[in-house]
Amino acid sequence: MTQAPLDCLCQALTSEFRRDPAGAGAAALLAEYARTQQDWRDYVRWSDERYTRNLVHRTREYELLLLCWQPEQASPIHDHAGQSCWMAVLEGDMEEVHYRAPGAPQAAEACLDEGRSCTYGPSQVAFIDDRIALHLIQPKSGPGVTLHLYAKPIDECRVFEPSTGQVTGVELGYHSVRGEACQTAPAEVRATFAAD
Ligand code: SIN
Repeated sequence: MTQAPLDCLCQALTSEFRRDPAGAGAAALLAEYARTQQDWRDYVRWSDERYTRNLVHRTREYELLLLCWQPEQASPIHDHAGQSCWMAVLEGDMEEVHYRAPGAPQAAEACLDEGRSCTYGPSQVAFIDDRIALHLIQPKSGPGVTLHLYAKPIDECRVFEPSTGQVTGVELGYHSVRGEACQTAPAEVRATFAAD
């Protein structure tokens, strides 16, 4: 039986992070998948409440998620818990805004400086980590679908509220796992994924 393209991508990412824990070839793999494949549509899930986070695959080295954004559903301003984040746009145009929080890195309050903003279209891949900036992601106009690769997986991150300066630690959950709606706590989901 032939493997689904998304499974082939996961296999290629597993090999890539074994070869190079920094994942130097990950952006090219994501771009090629985004440019040529459509089976991600099986994982699309919308919510009127917020953008959805849909887990495709997770190993000890990385996790791959499909995020579905309705118009005006922005992410909070957040960090990446010391990990690397790649975002490949599958559909729509996505805006990324950078922020800096000068001051003590673990402070409970932060004053934010807004940095550059950039729009990415289908098949384009963005990269960020905490050395580069904090960021916010939102669809530019109309809905958007994006593929996010985190290496290593991110279970918690910090969220920055620009009007009050409050910094909050949040646990990250999933709306679906491998295409099935997810009712279980994130820790239970994490335990079901074998550590490849
Ligand atoms: C998320 O994973 O919920 C936010 C998107 C990102 O970090 O790029």
